[in-house]
Amino acid sequence: MRASGIVLMALLGLTGCQQAEKKAPHTINETMALVMEPNAEAIWGMMSKAYNDKGDALDPAKLSNDDWKKIGDASALMNERAQELIDHARDIEVTAKGTPIMGEQAVGQVGPAGKDWDAVNAKTIEGRIRANPDQFVTKARLLLDATARLKQAAASKNVAVLYAVGSEMDEVCDGCHEPFWGTDEPPPFPKSTN
Ligand code: HEC
Repeated sequence: MRASGIVLMALLGLTGCQQAEKKAPHTINETMALVMEPNAEAIWGMMSKAYNDKGDALDPAKLSNDDWKKIGDASALMNERAQELIDHARDIEVTAKGTPIMGEQAVGQVGPAGKDWDAVNAKTIEGRIRANPDQFVTKARLLLDATARLKQAAASKNVAVLYAVGSEMDEVCDGCHEPFWGTDEPPPFPKSTN
């Protein structure tokens, strides 16, 4: 009885202080793996569905109201997280303790593709962001703008904007990955040794 009373008080105390403090931002890894990647894929999936037969523009007749809603929801989620990256460029953590980031297991291995493709760990990335938070903000802002435009495109069912912004979005992703994580470009085809 006494013990549970103490636990209850501790819990109450905890929520009280969590409310008073600013909520900790999601880690970059959580934002990337759980929000950016799946929602960008959802948007790109809708674009593939909407290509006209020539493949050079999107056909509005191929997108339903539900499809547009999915595009709008996906853009809104990404937009929120882009804002969070901007707001927390100076204190955001790359990943939670014990959660490895993609490629981290290969840190220190010398790859055949050259230095640009060497894997980096979360600490290295964090160091790069702390050393240049303004650049990180600039890159995140590009994604904030792109996702805002996609949100608007969804609201007004504008395939031209969806096409223009959606097909450039991977460049926006890579524009931040390149300086802080490592290049997204595939390595050159290995030279034959025989
Ligand atoms: C402002 C910077 C920034 C932008 C913009 C950005 N990323 Fe990232 N992303 C990172 C950083 C830093 C990492 C490395 C940390 C990590 O792997 O979690 C990363 C890693 C990732 C990963 C690997 C996650 C893992 O499991 O390790 C994926 C997937 C990813 N990003 C997807 C995207 C997509 C898709 C977009 C664009 C829609 C995007 N990112 C835009 C900074 C950014």
